Formats: sequence, C-alpha cells, structure tokens
Amino acid sequence: MLGIETSCDETGVGLVRGNTLLADAVASSVDEHARFGGVVPEVASRAHLEAMVPTVERACVEAGVRLDDVDAVAVTSGPGLVGALLVGVAAAKALALGFGRPLYGVNHLVAHVAVDQLEHGPLPEPCLALLVSGGHSSLLLVDDVTKDVQSLGATIDDAAGEAFDKVARLLGLPFPGGPHIDAAARDGDPASIAFPRGLTSGRDMQQHRFDFSFSGLKTAVARWVDARARSGEPVPLADVAAAFQEAVCDVLTRKAVAACQAHGIEHLLIGGGVAANSRLRTLVVERAAAAGVAVRVPRPSLCTDNGAMVAALGAQLVERGRAPSALDLPADSAMPVTAVVA
Ligand code: KG4
Ligand code: ZN
Repeated sequence: MLGIETSCDETGVGLVRGNTLLADAVASSVDEHARFGGVVPEVASRAHLEAMVPTVERACVEAGVRLDDVDAVAVTSGPGLVGALLVGVAAAKALALGFGRPLYGVNHLVAHVAVDQLEHGPLPEPCLALLVSGGHSSLLLVDDVTKDVQSLGATIDDAAGEAFDKVARLLGLPFPGGPHIDAAARDGDPASIAFPRGLTSGRDMQQHRFDFSFSGLKTAVARWVDARARSGEPVPLADVAAAFQEAVCDVLTRKAVAACQAHGIEHLLIGGGVAANSRLRTLVVERAAAAGVAVRVPRPSLCTDNGAMVAALGAQLVERGRAPSALDLPADSAMPVTAVVA
C-alpha cells in the first residue's frame, strides 16, 4: 500500500505491507513558513507540487520496491488545507489510474490513529485517541478504525500546536515553537504563574465537556508578558514557558482520561506533533495509569504528519474488505471524522 499525505506542510509518502512499515519519506516546507510564523497555504501547495515526484521516488528506493509492485494507493482526502490536499489527491489519482490500482481517499485524523499499528501492532478497539497538532486538537472514540469513529470533542478556537507556536512567537522563540517551549520549560517552574485552563469551569464543562480552547490562554500569556515588560522587569522565559505548557498539558490529559472513564475505554492513543511534548507524555502516562488506562504513543516521526499513516489506514481498509473510493473523490478541507473513507 502506497500512502500520500499533503494536508498541511509535509509531503509524506509511505509504503507498508500490512502492519509492516517499508518506507516513510517526508519532505517538509516548514522552513519556508518560518518567517511568517505559521503555515502559508499557497506556499505549502507549491512546495507539495515540487516535492511530490522526488518523495515518491525516495519512498520506493527506501522500500526497495518499484511503483508497479504497489497493490493499492491511499491518500489524505481531508481535512486540511484545500490547495495542499489537491496536490496529493491529484498525484494519487494519477498513480491509481496509471497502474490500474484501487484508490482509497482517507481521513487524515483517522490515519493518525491507524499509524500506531506500525509500531505497536493491531489497534486495541475500542480506543480513545487524543490528536494534537498545529492544525487540530481532537478527542476521538474509535470503535472500528475503518468505519466507526466518533468525535467526542475538539478545539473551539486554536489548535494545541498553534497555541505553542503563537506563545513561542510572543516569547521571541523560532517557528515551530513547540519544541522550543518544551526545551525552555525544562528550567522553569510550572507553578510560578497560574494561567487559565480553558473550558474547565462548571458551566463550560456542561456544554463543552470534551472540547478544548487555547485562545484565552494565549491572550493571558500575552497580557502577563506585556505587563512584566512594561514594569521594566525581565520576562522569566523558562517560567512562562513551563506555566503555559502545564496549562495546555493539564487540560489535554485531564479531558482525555475523563473521556476514557466516561466511555469505559481502557486504551488511550496519542498522536499529532504535540505528542512529542515531554510534559504531555509524562503527565498522560501518570494520569492514565491512575485511572487504569493503558497509553500508546507512536514514535515522534510517526506522530507528525507522514505518508506511512495514510498507508497504514489504507492497509486496514483492504484487510477489512472496505470498498475503495471513486476516481472523482474530492479534496475535502472539512471532511468529518465520521467519514473514514471518501
Ligand atoms: O503534526 P504536525 O507535525 O503538523 C501539523 O500541524 O499537522 O504538528 C506540528 C505542531 C507544531 O505546532 C509544533 O509546534 C508542535 O506540533 N510540536 C510541539 C512539540 N513538537 C512539535 N508542541 C509541543 N511540544 C513539542 N515538543
Ligand atoms: Zn496531522
């Protein structure tokens, strides 16, 4: 199974055989977005166009296979940036049509869940998935990764990774900010500043029990830093980073574990770029263990956007006999998680 991913700024091409990862080639345009402090859709689309053919070739070399050895093609159909998605969808259609192979247009979020089988073997179902990246923050209930996925909650404003990137920017750290905040926070005191925990108060918990909100937190950090700077005192970078990171990780882990308990789920899977965060990993393991929930986190290269995750979901679809997509499958920027295949 060949998998193609182009929903954001990574051109990913992966090859798998069943649960075995054969190749995972990724070309990222992240450096081209750095000076803008966030992903610029048109720049990402152009970069996908330039990277597609070389990345497909690199994946084939890495796996030691020829393109006509591929039995089926899977591609991210959505959600994501529409112009970026279109490049991957067009490339996948060309390959499927050219080699006469079935084509599966798949959901990006569900692929983040399916990828874990490449590292830890068959997925425990049902399981709960916390997906946190620069583009999404979702809690999913997965009964069957090929056809039954429900959204329990999602961010109502910024994605978790976006919050890391915006706070890093106001602290003068480079883009993408997550890894820099993570590093700076190591020398800081997470309890030094009490930043708000979005959507955790009584009323919010009634309406948005498993949703997230990070824009209020970002504003609170901005105000705090601004007040400090105006008072003429130095901004304690490590403490701000640690306190901000704690606020994000506290809410993410608290809601994820609570969702497992509410639905009687014993397996929690974490995915997306923010899953690389050291504090998130420690805290989720601690809290899940206390609640009797087992945690699975794929290695960082499989957590960030890649083609292998798309191929992994494609392989599951074939294994469970799901029908392929039509050749006119769309790039759907708002593809709902309930649609696993387009
Ligand atoms: O999944 P990903 O590579 O791409 C998408 O956004 O789809 O995730 C990138 C996001 C960025 O916002 C980045 O700042 C964040 O993941 N990130 C982290 C860490 N490493 C990457 N956030 C917090 N801590 C980290 N160690
Ligand atoms: Zn993603």
